[in-house]
Amino acid sequence: MYDGGKILAGIAIFLGLVLLPVWHNAVVASAPRPEVKTPTHEKHCVDSAAVMRASHMNVLDQWRDAVVREGVRTTVTPTGMTVSMSLTKTCMNCHANKKEFCDACHNYLAVSPTCWECHVEPKGSSS
Ligand code: HEC
Ligand code: HEC
Ligand code: HEC
Repeated sequence: MYDGGKILAGIAIFLGLVLLPVWHNAVVASAPRPEVKTPTHEKHCVDSAAVMRASHMNVLDQWRDAVVREGVRTTVTPTGMTVSMSLTKTCMNCHANKKEFCDACHNYLAVSPTCWECHVEPKGSSS
């Protein structure tokens, strides 16, 4: 005879094992990064932390296009700051420690933006 309880328990365990990697990924993917040091002298980034985490490269692309293609150099951020759209002068002014911020994350994820071949790294970040 079939034992309904045992079959259900079996299915539950089976699903649990099959879904484990999915849950694991869901948890890990929502935090795919090491601890990074964000500035303590400023409260906000140029957008919310979640947007920046997911799309800072798009922000940088938009800024570059605005400056290089349209000749527009300043913008008002969604966080209400008027800033110069500059990688070195704005982003790196707050995130002065490139090593413990940008690099910490990128190295962990094996991403290596080539921006620094032309753009100047903040001083002291390579020590
Ligand atoms: C006015 C200072 C300031 C400027 C300018 C600034 N940031 Fe930020 N950034 C912060 C702060 C403060 C946080 C942490 C915000 C928080 O936790 O809510 C942050 C968070 C971030 C994060 C998310 C880090 C995490 O928690 O995972 C990224 C990525 C980031 N910034 C990249 C950039 C880039 C790229 C630029 C330039 C386009 C930039 N920031 C400009 C202050 C700044
Ligand atoms: C919270 C982790 C994290 C932090 C902090 C971070 N990045 Fe990134 N960055 C990423 C991820 C993840 C990608 C790319 C993922 C992909 O391949 O699409 C990326 C991609 C980029 C790219 C595009 C690279 C390319 O080759 O297309 C640029 C440019 C960039 N980051 C600049 C910065 C700068 C500048 C800082 C420091 C101010 C910074 N990032 C801080 C996680 C981070
Ligand atoms: C081959 C050299 C080169 C590389 C590589 C490069 N840039 Fe640039 N970038 C420039 C030049 C030149 C300008 C124009 C400078 C100006 O007019 O102030 C510029 C302007 C910009 C600007 C607006 C002005 C400023 O002060 O930041 C942003 C933002 C920017 N680049 C982001 C990036 C990012 C992000 C990367 C890497 C994914 C990158 N660039 C890679 C040469 C380069």
